[in-house]
Amino acid sequence: MNLILLGAPGAGKGTQAEMISKHLNIPTISTGNIIRAALKSGTEMGLKAKSYMDAGQLVPDEVVIGIISERLKEEDCQNGFILDGFPRTIPQAEALDSMGIVIDKVIDIEVPDEKIAARMSGRRVCENCGTSYHLLYKIPREEGKCNECGGTLVQRKDDHPDTVLKRLTEYHNQTEPLKGYYEKQGKLFIVEGQEEVADTTALTFKALEA
Ligand code: AP5
Repeated sequence: MNLILLGAPGAGKGTQAEMISKHLNIPTISTGNIIRAALKSGTEMGLKAKSYMDAGQLVPDEVVIGIISERLKEEDCQNGFILDGFPRTIPQAEALDSMGIVIDKVIDIEVPDEKIAARMSGRRVCENCGTSYHLLYKIPREEGKCNECGGTLVQRKDDHPDTVLKRLTEYHNQTEPLKGYYEKQGKLFIVEGQEEVADTTALTFKALEA
């Protein structure tokens, strides 16, 4: 199954992607994680993306389209994949269509803006493998350490409240129109994000079976 996860920053796309990935045994492709990894290793692409990311803006379409077209050619994507954070603009969705990629479902996780800021302030990510945690909702077994690899948990630079507001504005202006784009294609499924991750996951799995 080829899936897209849509939703505002912090709506829980990454968290749900992780659940679906385990459930269906297909990889998650997160443009955010790919860009952060490039940034960490100091590649040209990472350096180009840094100023946009730090400012809470979207990275230019041509950069992310290039990343995705290369990644989707890899062997592990041939039996399905989850796109987390791509597409984020209409031109990115059109580029995906023109690559001949057929998307089966688009799951849109809806969380009101007011709740997003609180969630983001509690998020911690592993600086080594990128796994995401929350100080209240997804607590690591050992404080400050990743369950998966033992890496150190840190706060993302763009989770600062001012930057979160900018990311939300970018989302409403540039990404939200994708709901109409995929609704017209009959592929859009809306999941109302719940207080508990497990409750959201139950709704996501229902949408997968619909
Ligand atoms: P990216 O990394 O994709 O960030 P984002 O979309 O802004 O989304 P987040 O990762 O912040 O949130 P999420 O929805 O995955 O939430 P999560 O599951 O972690 O992008 C970062 C930047 O990269 C962009 O701003 C842009 O600059 C650039 N970029 C990336 N892709 C791009 C593209 N295609 N085009 C252009 N630029 C691009 O959950 C958040 C927190 O809440 C976690 O702590 C989690 O544990 C907790 N949580 C999750 N679910 C629940 C729940 N049900 N109840 C309570 N807490 C919950």
